[in-house]
Amino acid sequence: MFTQISRQLLDWYQIHARNLPWRKEESAPYAVLVSEIMLQQTRVETVIPYYQRWMERFPTLESLAQASLEEVLRYWEGLGYYSRAKNLHRTAQILVQTYRGEFPQHVEHLRKLPGIGDYTAAAIASIAFGQKVAAIDGNVRRVLSRLFLISEPLSLPETQKKLKSLAVQCLPAEQVGDYNQALMDLGALICLPRSPKCLQCPLSVLCRAYQNNQQNDIPVKAKK
Ligand code: ADE
Ligand code: SF4
Repeated sequence: MFTQISRQLLDWYQIHARNLPWRKEESAPYAVLVSEIMLQQTRVETVIPYYQRWMERFPTLESLAQASLEEVLRYWEGLGYYSRAKNLHRTAQILVQTYRGEFPQHVEHLRKLPGIGDYTAAAIASIAFGQKVAAIDGNVRRVLSRLFLISEPLSLPETQKKLKSLAVQCLPAEQVGDYNQALMDLGALICLPRSPKCLQCPLSVLCRAYQNNQQNDIPVKAKK
């Protein structure tokens, strides 16, 4: 079951991956960092032009570290949540000064940098460095809760634990970055919050919610 999920998803991703600018440049760690911070609270379509302008002006970690905060904020203007820009600037300076411009590759180290939480650390570690870690956000929780027919509210700590454990078991041995991004794309394009497109889904034969015709009932929200 677990290996079938990752195999189907990776095959699907080969054909259906969204063509996003940060997926081009051989997943350079800096490009992944910038895109993941921008994507934290902002939609993909909004991020794309900002990302492109940013990379033209600050093409490297060093160029970002050397820029003034004022200029950095100007390039962020309109994206909102400005602490993200300040943290990204700080992180670039820390990486240049303390790590000699080299990225740490492990989640525990990435996690200590300003503005990088569990999800972003896992996304960078897997996409840029191929580390075998699960990047779990709201989209991924929704997909996994349907695949495994999790009928308890997602907000409960026990449910979160169960999901995390399933997410880790699903990870493939290789291509973990692609796999994580395939899950993100599936959540964005197919396994939608309302009316998921199960007929187009590469996982429908494996999906317990779909097999029980409960795809619209899951995830379950906590009772107020
Ligand atoms: N959301 C967060 N990270 C993403 C990524 N790498 N690709 C698409 N959507 C994302
Ligand atoms: Fe989501 Fe439907 Fe695919 Fe299941 S079959 S993962 S509910 S889109």
